[in-house]
Amino acid sequence: MIRSLVIGSGAYLPETVLTNTELSRRVDTSDEWIRERTGIRERRVVRDGEMTSHLAVQAARAALADAALDAGEIDLVVVATTTPDETFPATATTVQARLGMSRGAAFDVQAVCSGFIYGLAVADNFIKAGQARTVLLIGAETMSRLMDWTDRTTCVLFGDGAGAFVLQAGEGHGTNADRGVLNTKLFSDGRLHDLLYVDGGPSSTRTTGYLRMQGKEVFRHAVTNIAAAIEASLAEAGLTIADIDWFIPHQANQRILDGTARRLGIPPERVVSTVAVHGNTSSASVPLALATALADGRVKPGDLVLLEAMGGGFTWGAALLRW
Ligand code: UT7
Repeated sequence: MIRSLVIGSGAYLPETVLTNTELSRRVDTSDEWIRERTGIRERRVVRDGEMTSHLAVQAARAALADAALDAGEIDLVVVATTTPDETFPATATTVQARLGMSRGAAFDVQAVCSGFIYGLAVADNFIKAGQARTVLLIGAETMSRLMDWTDRTTCVLFGDGAGAFVLQAGEGHGTNADRGVLNTKLFSDGRLHDLLYVDGGPSSTRTTGYLRMQGKEVFRHAVTNIAAAIEASLAEAGLTIADIDWFIPHQANQRILDGTARRLGIPPERVVSTVAVHGNTSSASVPLALATALADGRVKPGDLVLLEAMGGGFTWGAALLRW
């Protein structure tokens, strides 16, 4: 059977570091509160004029170099983002042009913090259906642009960044020993809109709006939903937690990571956590965390990797892949 193999990956962070101490000069907060409640120490933010597409292109170039592939060989560009450069066109088409591509298709996927998992499902299904052989998948965000910088309950949580995969069709035997994407599981529940949303948009206010969140409620749903998605993914594959080499969760809050790991019995040393230095980078968080674990040699070829995320909508999901 056809499997979607990750043949290259890359990541990019903007240069500007924003520390908790710097934030405590803007709003009534403290380094101690932010660390204790979230595990975040610092995050990266874009400078004036730096856009989501800029971060996306940098991550894409790194992934293409890792795959030793020319952009001209890409059939499909999928950008998962909730912070596009413009309302239209899709940031994916901007990225396509900047990479010098003159063929293929490009579009954005909007699933907020679950965007990379949703994008992975889209890429995998295009490949398995034979409609694309090589897909460039990018999660890229400038969440700092959606912050109400006077709201201490949200502005301390998010950061900017981008991560990318190059996926390509390969042969598999249809077993869990195959390399590549083994499955993806997606869920959403639109009734939970009010717990996490942006209070603006082209057809409502004609403005961009700011992120609004009922943090405690989101937290309550997060552990339950994420655990359910992981259980669904493992059950479908006929695997258990004991089979997983690396758990690469969406990086929203260290307490959510710990709670999910505890609930599922995942040993803490198998959990990749970068929330301390990235904050919540929405759709970029999973590939950014994975890039860290690849760079320091934790994730190796053949390892079984479990990805998960949850975000506004609500949307949530999990993916299993053998690296
Ligand atoms: O990607 C998915 C999206 N987001 C998430 O997954 C986030 C999920 N939620 C969370 O991570 C947590 O709920 C937060 C980190 C947002 C908040 O932590 P919490 O432990 O749930 O705190 P809380 O909202 O119950 O607030 C406790 C207190 C409140 O004061 P009072 O009412 O007890 O006097 C807040 O006003 O902490 C106050 N507070 C702050 N204090 C200092 C809220 N934000 C801050 C802050 N600095 N930045």
